[in-house]
Amino acid sequence: MTEDDKGMTDRSVERPRGRTLVDGPAAPVVVAPGTLPVGRASGLPLREEGPAKLTGEALYADDLVFPGAWYGATVRSTQARARLLGIDRDETFAWDRVVVVTADDIPGENVVSLIDDDQPILVPVGGEIRHHAEPLALIAAPDRATLAEATTRLRVRTEALPPVLDPLAATEIISEHDIVVGDVEAGFAAAAVVVEGTYHTGHQEQLYIEPQAMIAVPEPDGGVTVHGSLQCPFYVLAALARGLGEPVERVRVVQAVTGGGFGGKEEYPSMVALHAALLALAAHRPVRMIYGRHEDLAATTKRHPSIAHHRSAFTADGTLLAQDIDLILDGGAYATLTSVVLSRATLHAGGPYRCPNVRIRSRAVRTNTPPNGAFRGFGAPQAHFGAELQMSKAAEALGLSPAEVRRRNAYRIGDTTPTGQVLRPSVAAETVLARAVEASGFEAVRTRTAEARARASATAPDPGDPVRTGPVRVAEGVGLALAWHGAGFTGTGEVKLASVAALELGEDGRVRVLAGSTEIGQGSRTVFRTLVAEALGVELDVIDVAPVDTAIVPDSGPTVASRTTMVVGGLLVRAAGELRRLVEERNGGRPFARVRVEDARRHGPTRVDRRFEAYPGVHFDDEAYRGDAYPTYGWAAAVADVAVDLDTFEVDVRSVTAVDDAGRVVHPVLAEGQVEGGTLQAVGYATIEEIKVEDGRYRNDRLATCLIPTSLDAPRITAIMVEAPFSGEPHGAKGLGELPMDVAAPAVVAAIHDAVGIWVDRIPATPERILEQLLGAAGDGLDAPAEADAEARP
Ligand code: MOS
Repeated sequence: MTEDDKGMTDRSVERPRGRTLVDGPAAPVVVAPGTLPVGRASGLPLREEGPAKLTGEALYADDLVFPGAWYGATVRSTQARARLLGIDRDETFAWDRVVVVTADDIPGENVVSLIDDDQPILVPVGGEIRHHAEPLALIAAPDRATLAEATTRLRVRTEALPPVLDPLAATEIISEHDIVVGDVEAGFAAAAVVVEGTYHTGHQEQLYIEPQAMIAVPEPDGGVTVHGSLQCPFYVLAALARGLGEPVERVRVVQAVTGGGFGGKEEYPSMVALHAALLALAAHRPVRMIYGRHEDLAATTKRHPSIAHHRSAFTADGTLLAQDIDLILDGGAYATLTSVVLSRATLHAGGPYRCPNVRIRSRAVRTNTPPNGAFRGFGAPQAHFGAELQMSKAAEALGLSPAEVRRRNAYRIGDTTPTGQVLRPSVAAETVLARAVEASGFEAVRTRTAEARARASATAPDPGDPVRTGPVRVAEGVGLALAWHGAGFTGTGEVKLASVAALELGEDGRVRVLAGSTEIGQGSRTVFRTLVAEALGVELDVIDVAPVDTAIVPDSGPTVASRTTMVVGGLLVRAAGELRRLVEERNGGRPFARVRVEDARRHGPTRVDRRFEAYPGVHFDDEAYRGDAYPTYGWAAAVADVAVDLDTFEVDVRSVTAVDDAGRVVHPVLAEGQVEGGTLQAVGYATIEEIKVEDGRYRNDRLATCLIPTSLDAPRITAIMVEAPFSGEPHGAKGLGELPMDVAAPAVVAAIHDAVGIWVDRIPATPERILEQLLGAAGDGLDAPAEADAEARP
């Protein structure tokens, strides 16, 4: 399709372009599909790296060729917890054909540098193995056959220790919070309706298309360069320097084309890079550490499982009076980013609702599974699952529509959050809710499903009946959810990061973007070029984006937390403004686009760097855990239509209407892509994505058994973008990447309730769980499902 075919100009809606965003409250704008808000001058650009990916020209880490490179492998624990007594070499094997690295060979600190220093690069002899698939030793060999042979000739001696696998029984706390506002018990005493529930969410695998992959190349100066699949080049750089005992100047990290991240390439690549580098330095040659899917599934981080207990108090007219929330995250064996994930989960635990009396207690605990870590949403999807089911249950108890109870309580401008943050402009809860209800025809569908349910109840199926003949019978339902998502790093995070991004007008008159932000499939390179082209008033093809190589680009912070378009994009827009002013000033006020080539010839290269500065009026006190937890929030609503098969209890999510507020849509196609992808990932989270754990090991650690939705499972997704601009950035953009992940799961589970009348408080809502619930509701005297025993209050 050409740009003309899309008819973008005539479909564009009224939007307040040129409005001064710092002026104050502005009504959110709903953007019609196919409109072109930014980059009008140059047309909607194609995704920059798209053609190379489609034609196979793009070079992922495993495609990179380094002559003479050896292959690396990791020898891993087969126990969840044990003492490592020794690693023995089979003397019949010719060990001079390979190199072996153990903890003793680590030149720097034996720690994967992140927040806490608890995770070793390799478990030392005498040390404790804390999870299945934990790295114990490394081997590199000139060919794969020798490598495979060598790994079987290394014998690991251990003494088994009892693993801790139940987060409710775990005693080691990684971090915890306790927020108290108002008088919670007084709120409950005054309540007309109290809703109580315990909600479980499971592990979730990021399942990026490309598994973890790093290639380390020793440099003549004794340092090392690592090429690989990653989100955060400067995290990897810092971890390498520390583990290798090298100054950062002698370490270099280069991003290869990356086949997806979703948080899974946020912290784990540091481990893979360290392993590759240790082997490369020992072997004096490049070493390729490319994970297969099985190894990746077995060993790398997953989304934190959660258990949340909620009590919510309402007046008779549906006003939220009090919330009492207890939230537990299962951190797995090491802390990774768990404390930050818990913080985000805690701050979102109440959902997007005003409430005068709140208590939120939360803790993340250590267990003996592989460590859990970053995954799109970063604690917020877990938090929203319980918060939104509470709202849906409250609607039922109050006799209100699920939309109405949310409308009455959703945050508005001027409301105060549990940390004492007063929400200023850019609150779009009511807008996204109204739009989702209207676009999906929520109330009409709800009436229809209620009528169908009433008709069906006369001929209600017996869920215990194992034999069924005749036509397929399904029950249809519709569900709604609402969410907020703090944009950018939590608390003082952005201030501490102090990210830098730069623009350079080169001698050839072309403009180069210098940023450490990584393209991981979300389109960040295209977004950057679009923003910079507009700010400079030039065509898009004048802008290049530098490769992400720590020797070339500044540290723009990690590519996480939905911060790239908002924070780094904002730095680039400011840098562009400054570059434009500077060049136009010294060229008699003539426009940048006209004078850039001549200016570059006369003055040589001109570079403008911008460093992040604290948003005015945004303050958070880390110690007291009070204040502006985020500079602003994105808002999302989703309506899901499901059909539950009454014979198999499979859930078919037929359609999702997803409405998301991104502050400002820079590139509509890429923005809709984020909404579609995040929605589908949340639908999988709600319905089929289950990681089964047995003795601390993932049982379904193969693609054959680790299910995610395919195109056949995908619902029809209607993505509707709303814009409530953020005054803190010149382009008004807020985060978008994670927002859609927050809403679809509770919407799907509410729809299952609408269809079959039971609440599935534990996701994924598999056929087994739905059947168990139906049997329980039928009260037919069958044994209670084993899982129900774990429903104890945390
Ligand atoms: Mo992350 S889950 O890539 O903030």
